[in-house]
Amino acid sequence: MTIKTIILAAGQGTRMRSSRPKVLHEIANKPLVQHVYETAKSLKGSEVYIVYGHGGEAVKQSLSRLDAIWVEQKQQLGTGHAVQQVIHHVDEGDTVLILYGDVPLLKAETLRTLLAKVSPTSLALLTVTLDDPTGYGRIVRDQHHAVRRIVEHKDASAAERLINEGNTGILACNGGQLIQWLSRLSNNNAQNEYYLTDIIEMAVADGLTIATAQAASADEVLGVNNREQLAHLERVYQFERARMLMAQGVTLRDPARVDVRGEFAELGQDIDIDINVIFEGVNRIASNVKIGPNCLIKNATIADGVEILSHSVIEDASIGAGSRIGPFARIRPQTELAEHVHIGNFVEIKKSSVASGSKINHLSYIGDSEIGASVNVGAGTITCNYDGANKFKTVIEDGAFIGSDTQLVAPVTIGKNATIGAGSTITQNTPAEQLTLSRVKQVSVPSWQRPVKAQDAVGNLPHGSETDKSKEK
Ligand code: UD1
Ligand code: CA
Repeated sequence: MTIKTIILAAGQGTRMRSSRPKVLHEIANKPLVQHVYETAKSLKGSEVYIVYGHGGEAVKQSLSRLDAIWVEQKQQLGTGHAVQQVIHHVDEGDTVLILYGDVPLLKAETLRTLLAKVSPTSLALLTVTLDDPTGYGRIVRDQHHAVRRIVEHKDASAAERLINEGNTGILACNGGQLIQWLSRLSNNNAQNEYYLTDIIEMAVADGLTIATAQAASADEVLGVNNREQLAHLERVYQFERARMLMAQGVTLRDPARVDVRGEFAELGQDIDIDINVIFEGVNRIASNVKIGPNCLIKNATIADGVEILSHSVIEDASIGAGSRIGPFARIRPQTELAEHVHIGNFVEIKKSSVASGSKINHLSYIGDSEIGASVNVGAGTITCNYDGANKFKTVIEDGAFIGSDTQLVAPVTIGKNATIGAGSTITQNTPAEQLTLSRVKQVSVPSWQRPVKAQDAVGNLPHGSETDKSKEK
C-alpha cells in the first residue's frame, strides 16, 4: 500500500515575527518540518510531499537533502487549496495522510493507529480534547456520537464553540475519494478559504464513517505559531529525550537541565551527567563516563570510564578510556586522545593526537601535533603551529618532558625521553634523552636601586605608615 503523505507547510507564520519561514525554526537544532518529515518517512510505504509557499525557496533549498517531492502553493487560499496542489500526484488506490509542517512532535505510533482506521468506508481523523479550544475547528457529533462535520472556530455558532473536541488537522483517507471531495470544495465561509475540513461533511454524505483517534498527549498535536509555543515544545521534546536516557541507564542529576540536539550512535550504562550539559550532533558515549556541569559535547566519541570535568567543550574528537578532561578544557576537531590522557584547565587541543598516559594539565595550546605516550607537557606550553600563512606540525616523542612556558616553533620534533628546560623557545629538533634549553643567562645586579616617584624623593611618607594612620584620627 502506498501512503502519500502530504505535509502542509505553506503558511506564513506571521506571529513568529521572523524573516525566517516558520517551518525552518528549530527544535533540538532541527527544522520543524524536518521533524514531521522524519516521522512521515518512518511509516512503511510512505512517500512524502511538502507543500511550500511563503519563503518557499528558502525552505526548499535548506532542506533539499530530504527525499520529498516539493509542491508549490503560490497563494495561500486555505488547507483544502494546499492539498489540491498535490492531488495530481495521488492515485485512486492510495491512502493519503495529511500532516502539518508546524506540528513537530507527532509520533509515528499515533499515525499508525490513525492509518489503521482508514478503509473505503471510513475516513480517519485525529482529534484533541482541549480545555480551551479557541481557534480550533470543532468536531460536531450527532446524538449517536458519530462525527457529522467540522466547523471552523470563525464559522461556529455560540453553541458549537462550547464543543471542546478540536480538529488537529491531521487526517487520513482514501485517495480516490479525496480527489472527488477536493473538486467540490468552495470558499464560501467566514475566511473565504478552501477548507480541507469541509471534506468531512462530504464523506458523511457519501455514507462513510468518520473514525477518530487521539494522541497519547496533547503536546503531540500542538502546532507552533509563536516563539513561546516553540520554546514549550522544545522543553517537551527535551524532557522526553531525558526520560529515554534515564530508561537506558543514564543518571541525570536534573532531567530538566540536559539538552540533546542530535543522536547517540552508542550509549553505555552508568553514565553520570551533571546539570546543563548539551549534546549536539552524533555522539558515542561508552559506559561509566562522568560528565560535569556546563559541558558541550558535539560529535564526540568518548570511551569507557572517561571523566569530563565542568565547563569543557569537546567537538569532533575522540577521548580514550579512562582519560580525564577539564575543568575548562577545549578539545577541538580532529583530536584523538588515547587511554588515560589527562587534559587540564585552560588547555586547547586542535587536530592532534595524544598517546596513552600523557598529561597536558595547565594553560596550553597544542595544535597540529603528534604527542607520544607518557609525555608531560608543562604549564603554559604553546605549539607555534602557524606562521600567518601555513600550518606546521609538532612531534613530541614518547616520554618527553616539556618544561613550563615553552614555545615549540613548528615544524619541530622533540626526541624520545628528551627534557626541555622551562621557558625555552625551541626552533630546532631536539635530541632524544638529552636536556635542551634556550634561555637567556640569569644575572643579578647587586648595586641596583628601585626607581622612586619624584614626590617620594622629597620625603613624603609612604601611604599606610604609622604616622599616616594617626593623621586620620
Ligand atoms: C486548521 C484547521 C482547523 C484545525 C487547526 C489545527 C482548516 C480549515 N482548519 O486551522 O480545523 O483545528 O488547523 O491547528 O483546515 N497551510 C498551507 N496553505 C494554506 C493554509 C494553510 O500550507 O493555504 C498550512 C499551514 O502552513 C499550517 C496548516 O496548513 O501548517 C494549518 O494552517 P493554519 O492556517 O494554521 O490553519 P488553522 O486556521 O489554524
Ligand atoms: Ca494553526
